[in-house]
Amino acid sequence: MKILAINGSPNRNGSTAKLIDMILDVCENEGAECERLHMEDYVIGECSSCVKYLNECEHCHCGGDDFMQLKAKMLDADGIIIGSPYYSGKPTGQIKNFIYRLEFTSVNNRFFENKYIVGVSSSAVSNSKKIAKFCASLGHGSFMGNGIISGVFYESIVDKVVMGDLAENEELKEKAKAVGLKLIEDIRTKRKARFYKLKKVIFKKWTKVLCIKVIRCIDKIELRIRRFAEDQGWIKKINKIED
Ligand SMILES: Cc1cc2nc3c(=O)[nH]c(=O)nc-3n(C[C@H](O)[C@H](O)[C@H](O)COP(=O)(O)O)c2cc1C
Repeated sequence: MKILAINGSPNRNGSTAKLIDMILDVCENEGAECERLHMEDYVIGECSSCVKYLNECEHCHCGGDDFMQLKAKMLDADGIIIGSPYYSGKPTGQIKNFIYRLEFTSVNNRFFENKYIVGVSSSAVSNSKKIAKFCASLGHGSFMGNGIISGVFYESIVDKVVMGDLAENEELKEKAKAVGLKLIEDIRTKRKARFYKLKKVIFKKWTKVLCIKVIRCIDKIELRIRRFAEDQGWIKKINKIED
């Protein structure tokens, strides 16, 4: 069983990394093979909205960067822990950018359908649950095949730091244990997402509607190009009855 942890904070040894480590310790104790990595070690270019994902959906090279390498690591894992600090109600730019890239390459292929995800977030004082949830949902939730949310782990750390080492805080340790064990159990039992079958049917229909719309749009564009080429005399008019 492989678990990959991605720290989306620019601080390698910051609170987000510590919260992630607390869950990983639990997973390692359960025999999981765990890998920790930091987003700051990877170059991830910005999403250029090239929409190539519609045809080349397995690849997203728009930045000529480390994106595919990181994605490959995610695909190789059974469980993914992804974390970001809370920055004024939002995740870090690094995490947002990475998730945007992931969203579009996952729409058609449902890459993360069988992956179990835990979102982590730390803040100074604010409630960082929504950031942990955003990370866990990889942007838009399991509806698009973006993984099954196994849990969230978030904490405002000011009090805890004042009280001592974050990783030694008993209350936090208990929470981390519950989240870690749930992740392990989900992977072992291959838990399905809620309303899995219903979502699959809806997703299929949605894809069909989208495909039809795209085809109609392409038809219209083709027709306009054809008319233009006909007017220029580059090609023969096909709808004119020849004498
Ligand atoms: C740009 C920026 C904005 C922040 N905004 C908030 C905030 O609105 N509320 C809060 O409680 N903490 C805020 N913080 C503090 C961080 O969320 C907090 O220090 C967090 O634990 C840092 O995680 P790290 O050590 O993994 O980097 C902010 C920090 C930065 C750098």
